[in-house]
Amino acid sequence: MDLMEYQAKELFAKHGVTTTLGVVVETAEAARAAAENLGGVTVVKAQVKAGGRGKAGGVKLAKTADEAFEHASNILGMEIKGLRVNRVLVTPATPPEEEYYFSFLLDRANRQYLCIASVEGGVEIEEVAKTNPDAVKQIPVDPGTGVDEEKARAIATEAKFPEPVFEQAVAMIQALYKVFVDEDATLVEVNPLARLAGDKLEALDGKVSLDENASEVRHPDHEEFEIREEADPLESKAKDKGLNYVKLDGQVGIIGNGAGLVMSTLDVVAYAGEAHGGVKPANFLDIGGGANAQVMADGLDVILHDPQVKSVFVNVFGGITACDEVANGIVGALDILGDEASKPLVVRLDGNNVDEGRRILSDRNHPLVTMVDTMDGAADKAAELANA
Ligand SMILES: Nc1ncnc2c1ncn2[C@@H]1O[C@H](COP(=O)(O)OP(=O)(O)O)[C@@H](O)[C@H]1O
Ligand SMILES: [Mg+2]
Repeated sequence: MDLMEYQAKELFAKHGVTTTLGVVVETAEAARAAAENLGGVTVVKAQVKAGGRGKAGGVKLAKTADEAFEHASNILGMEIKGLRVNRVLVTPATPPEEEYYFSFLLDRANRQYLCIASVEGGVEIEEVAKTNPDAVKQIPVDPGTGVDEEKARAIATEAKFPEPVFEQAVAMIQALYKVFVDEDATLVEVNPLARLAGDKLEALDGKVSLDENASEVRHPDHEEFEIREEADPLESKAKDKGLNYVKLDGQVGIIGNGAGLVMSTLDVVAYAGEAHGGVKPANFLDIGGGANAQVMADGLDVILHDPQVKSVFVNVFGGITACDEVANGIVGALDILGDEASKPLVVRLDGNNVDEGRRILSDRNHPLVTMVDTMDGAADKAAELANA
C-alpha cells in the first residue's frame, strides 16, 4: 500500500524524523483557514500517490491566505498522472537551501536492504543518476545487523552530507530506518531531504510503501491509511468479501481458481479477443481452492456489477475442490443472484470429477450458461459473446 505524503509524514513524526505535518484539507475554503492559522507564507501541495507533483503544477507557494485559497481551488480536482486530486496539504513554506535525496528499499535480488543517498539532488534524482552516477550512492544494508549509529555514520560519510548537517543526518538516517523496519515498509523515500535556513535538516516530502502482507497481523493500525474513496469501488467490495480481485479495463469478466491459472486465462482471453473486436479481460479474480457456492456467488456478484463486463469466463481446474463442488457452486451462485445474474457465462471445467461437474451443469441447463470443454475454445466463446 502506497501512502500519501501527509500519511508518510505522520509515520516520520512517530519515529522521530524531523518533519512538519501541516494541515490536510479537502476544500479551498478550508485551505484558506489553514493558511490563516499557520500564518505567514505557506505551500499548498496536491495529495496524490504520484511523484512529480511539483512539475505538474501541484505544489504552489502562497504568500497570503487568499493565495492559498486560489491555489487550492486550482489544484483540487486537477489530475496528476491520471489521478484526481481530492485533498491538499497546507504547510509552512520553508525554502530549502539545499536538497538531498534519501531512501531505504528492499533489494530483493540481493536479499538485503538498500540505502540510496545523494547530496546532489532533490527533484531530479533520476537525471542525476544518469548524468552523474557517482553522486548517487547505493549502500547495501544487512537486514540482520540493520542500521545502528555506526552504520548511520558510515552512510552519512559515504553520501557526503555536509558538516553543518552531518550529525542531524546521522540521527535522521537512524529514524528513517526505524520507519522502514518497524512499519514493515518496502520503501521509505525522502525527496527532498532539505537543508533549511539555519542548517536545519528536514524531510520536506515523504513517500512510504507499506508491505500489505504485514498489515493484518503485525500492523492492524495501518488500516487507517486506507482512503476508501481513492480505491476502486469494485475492488473495495471484493476486498470486503475477502476476494483476490483486480479491476482491469476490458469486457470479459474472469473467474478462476489459482493465481497461475487466472493469469494464463487473462492471456488466452486477450489473444482470443483479437479476433472479436479487440475485447479484453475485465479483471483478475482468483477464488482460490475452496470454490464453494458462496465464494462463487461473491465473485460473480462483483464481476456482474462491473458495467464494462459483457460476458464472464469461469475457468476452473478441479483439484482438492472437485469439479462437482464447483459446478454446484456455480448453480448455487446463480440461484443466490437470481435476476442480478444477467450476463452470459462461459464455463470451462476440467480436472478432478469433471464428468460429474459437467453433468450437474447440463442438468441445470441455465439459459445464461454455456459449457465449453477446452480453455482456448471457452476463451473464444466468451470473447465472441462480449463482442455481440
Ligand atoms: N514546505 C515547503 N516549503 C518550501 N518549498 C517546498 C516545500 N515542500 C516542497 N517544496 C518544494 O517543492 C518541490 C516539490 O515538492 P515535493 O513535496 O518534493 O513534491 P514532488 O516530489 O511530488 O514534486 C520540492 O523539491 C521543494 O523544492
Ligand atoms: Mg518530492
